Amino acid sequence: MKTRIYLTLAVSGIFLAQCSKETGNKGVLPKEIIPQKQLTKADLKNIAEETKKNLVTNLTQKISEKGPENALEFCNVNAIPLTKQLEDQHNVTIKRVSDKNRNPDNAANETERKYIYFFKEQLALKQKLEAKFDNGVFYAPITTNNMCLQCHGSEKDIKPETLAKIKSLYPNDNATGYQENEMRGLMVIKPN
Ligand code: HEC
Repeated sequence: MKTRIYLTLAVSGIFLAQCSKETGNKGVLPKEIIPQKQLTKADLKNIAEETKKNLVTNLTQKISEKGPENALEFCNVNAIPLTKQLEDQHNVTIKRVSDKNRNPDNAANETERKYIYFFKEQLALKQKLEAKFDNGVFYAPITTNNMCLQCHGSEKDIKPETLAKIKSLYPNDNATGYQENEMRGLMVIKPN
C-alpha cells in the first residue's frame, strides 16, 4: 500500500516537473541566426565615420566639463557605448592603432605601419587622405587637430597636471610631440 502511494507520488512528480519545464519555456524562441552579408567599403566607411564623430564629440564635451586632466580615459573608442553597439550589429572589431602609441595595446602591426607611412607620405605631398580597404579590412587615417594637442602635443601644449597623469598612467607613452594636421594613427575595422 505504502509503496503504491510513493510510486504514485513519484510518477506525478515527474509529470509535474515536465509540465512546468515546458510551460516555463513558453514564448522563448532560440536566438535568431541571421547570415552576415559581406560588408562593403562603404559600410565600413560609415561605421568608421560614426565612431569617430561620436568619439570626438564625447571627448570634447568631457574636456569642457572636467578639464583635459580628468578626461584622459575618453580618448578611447571603447569609452563610447556606441562602439560596442556597432561592433555587435555588424559583427566587426573596431580598434585604433599608432606607430607612436600611448597604450601598449594600440601598437600598430606591420601591415598597419605600412598604411601609416603611406598616409604620412600623402600628407607631406598635401594629398587628400582616402581610407583604404584591403582584404576585407578598413584602414582610416587619424590626423591631429588643435584639440588633440592638449594631450598629444609638446610640453608647452599640455598642462603640467595632465602631463603628470599621462606619465603615471602610461609610463612608456610615445604619443606626445605632435603638431596640428599630422598622422596620429589609424582606425582599423575588421569583420570578425
Ligand atoms: C584628454 C586627453 C586627450 C585628448 C584631448 C586626446 N587624446 Fe588621444 N589619447 C589619450 C589617451 C589617454 C590615450 C590612450 C587611451 C587608451 O588607453 O587606449 C589616447 C590614445 C589615442 C589613440 C590610440 C593610439 C595610442 O596612442 O594609444 C589615438 C589614435 C589618439 N589618441 C588620437 C587622438 C586624436 C586624433 C585626438 C584629437 C582629435 C586626441 N587623441 C585627443 C588622451 C587624449
